[in-house]
Amino acid sequence: MKLKFIDRFLSIVFLIYMLSLQSITVAAATGTDDNAAQIKRGAQLSPSCGACHGPDGNTANAELYPNLAGQSPDYIVLQLGNFKSGERPNDLMKGISGSLQLSDMRALGAYFGAQKAKRQPSVDAPLEAKGRSIFTKGSSAGAPACLTCHGAQGQGQAAFPRIASQPAKYTMEQLRVYRDAIKFNNPLASEMKAVAVKINQDEMSAVSAYLATLQ
Ligand code: HEC
Ligand code: HEC
Repeated sequence: MKLKFIDRFLSIVFLIYMLSLQSITVAAATGTDDNAAQIKRGAQLSPSCGACHGPDGNTANAELYPNLAGQSPDYIVLQLGNFKSGERPNDLMKGISGSLQLSDMRALGAYFGAQKAKRQPSVDAPLEAKGRSIFTKGSSAGAPACLTCHGAQGQGQAAFPRIASQPAKYTMEQLRVYRDAIKFNNPLASEMKAVAVKINQDEMSAVSAYLATLQ
C-alpha cells in the first residue's frame, strides 16, 4: 500500500516535470517566425506521410491509420522517436521514422499539429452515449475520467495527446496495447497503462466510438 503510494507520488512528480518542460518548449515556439518556418518545412516533408495519414493529417483510411491533424507537435515528435528506437513496435512506422532526423520530426510535428482535425461520422448513437459517460465520469472499475488528463474536448493538453476525432478502430487498438503491454520505458505510457487496465472490453468499444465523433 505504502509502496504503491510512493510509486504514484513519483509518477505525479515526473508528470509535473514533463509538463514544465512542455511549457518551456511551447513558450519558445509560439509567436516566432521560427514556428512558421517549421510548419513550412514540415509541409515540404509531409507528402511521404499523406498516402496513409492524409495530406492534411486527416486519415486516408479510418480502418487503418490514425489522424495526425491537430495532434500536439511534441507528442508527434515523441512517438516518431519511439517508433525509431523500437520502444513503440510497428514495422511500417519503424521503416518510415528510421530516416528522419530530430529536426525533420519537429518540422513534421509543427505541420500536422497546425492542421484542423475532422471528426468521424456517428455510427451508433447509444454506444457513443455510453462512451461519453466514461469520458466524463470514468469507468466502472475506477479509471479516472479521460477528460481530466486529455482535456474537456479530448483536444489534448501539455503532455497529454489529443484523442478526439481519432478513428474508433485505432483508439480501441491503442487501449488494448496499453492494457496488455508488459512494460513501457516511457513513464507517460505507464501512466496511461494504469488507466487502461481499469477499462473493460465493452467500455473500450464505447469510449472509442464516442471519441471518434468528438470534434
Ligand atoms: C504506409 C502507411 C504510413 C505512412 C506512409 C506513414 N505512416 Fe505514420 N502510422 C502508420 C500506422 C499504421 C500507424 C499506427 C501505428 C500503431 O498502431 O502503433 C501510424 C502512426 C503514426 C504516429 C503515431 C500517432 C499517434 O497518435 O500516436 C505518428 C506520429 C506518425 N504515424 C507519423 C507519421 C509521419 C510523420 C509520416 C511521414 C513521414 C508517416 N507517419 C507516414 C502508417 C503510416
Ligand atoms: C492520468 C492521466 C490520464 C487519464 C485519466 C487518461 N489518459 Fe490517456 N494518456 C495519458 C498519457 C500521459 C498518454 C500518453 C502516453 C504515451 O506517451 O504513450 C495517453 C495516451 C492515450 C492514448 C494514445 C493516443 C495516441 O494517439 O497515441 C489514448 C487512445 C488514450 N490515452 C485514451 C484515453 C482514454 C479513452 C481515457 C479515459 C478512459 C484516458 N486516456 C484517460 C494520460 C491519461
